[in-house]
Amino acid sequence: MIPRDFIEELKQRCDLEEVVGSYVKLRRAGANLSGCCPFHSEKTPSFTVFPDRHFYCFGCGAGGDVIAFIMRQENLDYTGAIEFLAARAGLAVPRQGEVREEGVRRSRVLEMNKTAARYFREVLNTDAGAAAREYLQSRGLSGATVRRFGLGFAPNDFGSLYRFLRDKGYTDEEMIAGFLCRRSERNNSMFSLFRNRIMFPIIDVAGNVIAFGGRVMDDSKPKYLNSSDTPAFKKSKNLFALNYARGNCNEQMILCEGYMDVIALHAAGFPCAVATLGTAITPEQARLMAKYTSRVVISYDSDEAGQRAAQKALRILGEVGLQTRVLRMNGAKDPDEFIKAYGADRFRQLLERSSTGFEYRLDSILAAHDMSLAEEKIKASSEICRLIAGSYSRVEREVYLLEAAKRLELPPDILRQDIEREAGRMRREQKQQESRDARSGAAGYGDRINPDAAKNMRISRGEETVLGLMLLYDEHRAAIASGAVELQSEDFFTEFGARAFSAILTLERTEDGFEIGMLGESFSPEEMGRLERMRIERRALSENGISVLRESAALLREEAARRREASAEDGAQSAIERRRAALAEKKKQKT
Ligand code: UTP
Ligand code: MN
Repeated sequence: MIPRDFIEELKQRCDLEEVVGSYVKLRRAGANLSGCCPFHSEKTPSFTVFPDRHFYCFGCGAGGDVIAFIMRQENLDYTGAIEFLAARAGLAVPRQGEVREEGVRRSRVLEMNKTAARYFREVLNTDAGAAAREYLQSRGLSGATVRRFGLGFAPNDFGSLYRFLRDKGYTDEEMIAGFLCRRSERNNSMFSLFRNRIMFPIIDVAGNVIAFGGRVMDDSKPKYLNSSDTPAFKKSKNLFALNYARGNCNEQMILCEGYMDVIALHAAGFPCAVATLGTAITPEQARLMAKYTSRVVISYDSDEAGQRAAQKALRILGEVGLQTRVLRMNGAKDPDEFIKAYGADRFRQLLERSSTGFEYRLDSILAAHDMSLAEEKIKASSEICRLIAGSYSRVEREVYLLEAAKRLELPPDILRQDIEREAGRMRREQKQQESRDARSGAAGYGDRINPDAAKNMRISRGEETVLGLMLLYDEHRAAIASGAVELQSEDFFTEFGARAFSAILTLERTEDGFEIGMLGESFSPEEMGRLERMRIERRALSENGISVLRESAALLREEAARRREASAEDGAQSAIERRRAALAEKKKQKT
């Protein structure tokens, strides 16, 4: 168990507002901050950060403290989230009693990656790396660029990296979890996954080597091998070269497809370039970019696949509020080749001429229709109306509208009507969808977190009152722990309520006392969200005194007594029947 003092200090140092703010654009709303929830898809903000350093999403029910936030956002368990925050705050995590060795730790994988990166760099400079050095040179990379990106070479043998890491004290399990080695099924020996490849370390904004990409030097497949997700790395949440680009992107970032594109751009004087890691861009990556810049120029490959991917990237980047531009290239496959063929100045011109996402889409729609045919023109204009209607700002719609009218050679007033009608329809649909989504996650029907609650709303409301009060007030917890207000977990009707009650009370009775963050050890992020809801619903009410606690506790006790009486009256025979019925009910619920 991690001591309470430490949890408290961690929460002091990792201010929720700041931590959340690095993932979500927050706006002040009275005493609170609000923004669009990172955990479900929405356009109208229902995610709220309260001044007491708790968050709650009124749309999807995510909630809790900074630890719960990180568990969910970074997809970590309780210990992982604490380690993550501790690293952010520069604190070492102390441990009480026995060390719980469960799985491979993130910090070990990071250390091991750093060691491996050094190894690959060293090999590049030995005889074994001669061909690799030649290859890098043939691709136009200077020694300075190779060093800046920490490029290296994985030698063409199965065992040397394994032996190197083993001698440094890394275990087989760690090497496997870190995606550096694997155990052969044939002869049970360990072998390196990266062999005879140019190694590109992936470095996060904190300077950790979190993963590797490795490129072959000929035509063999796969061209690039990338680390899969490890305890230290999630592909979908990181970007190549962000460690350098973050300090050079006040104006904009350039998003490319490939590692080599990014390296060529940095070397040519565009240090704001980043790339995804062998996958299409994800919303998490878009949010990560939005943390550092406000504008992104998509500079994908000029082939059809690249252009399709650019369309998708436009949408994903736009959804997190980034301004977007698309750069189009002729006469070269990708930015790396373009710069080699035409030089940095020509690339800078392309950059300056890159079109806004709107222009780009407008062009694509116009190009796809033969505007000399009436029906084609009608189709094109209705597609364009939908495109413009999708913009949330009236001003933006007006600007686009004028541009579109010009291109379509139609009077703006005619288009305006169609666009506003479409915009109204889209807004209504959006609202309906959002409230549908919100309802399906809320209490009652389909409640996965507390399935018992719907069976007796009155009792479950009472339970929520008690738990909400216990989560909010020291004195109420103390009153229950001391027995001044009588209540036991057996008095709870719902299984979730009983479990939450015991957990709170158990912590309250430890020497250190209760701290809400520590509940993350035994409750899932979804469950933490539910507890958070109980807290804020209670806090929003004006009457939270001991009499409310007494009353609700009494209700729960009485109801429990009634249930016990009812079951005592039934004979042993019917008890068996009821158990059968309960089992059948459970089965039914599962299906
Ligand atoms: P490309 O095939 O366009 O390669 O893949 P590239 O970036 O132009 O690389 P060079 O110039 O041939 O060296 C673009 C990106 O897609 C990912 C890599 O991130 C690559 O940089 N990719 C590609 C893979 O992850 N695996 C592959 O096998 C191929
Ligand atoms: Mn290329």
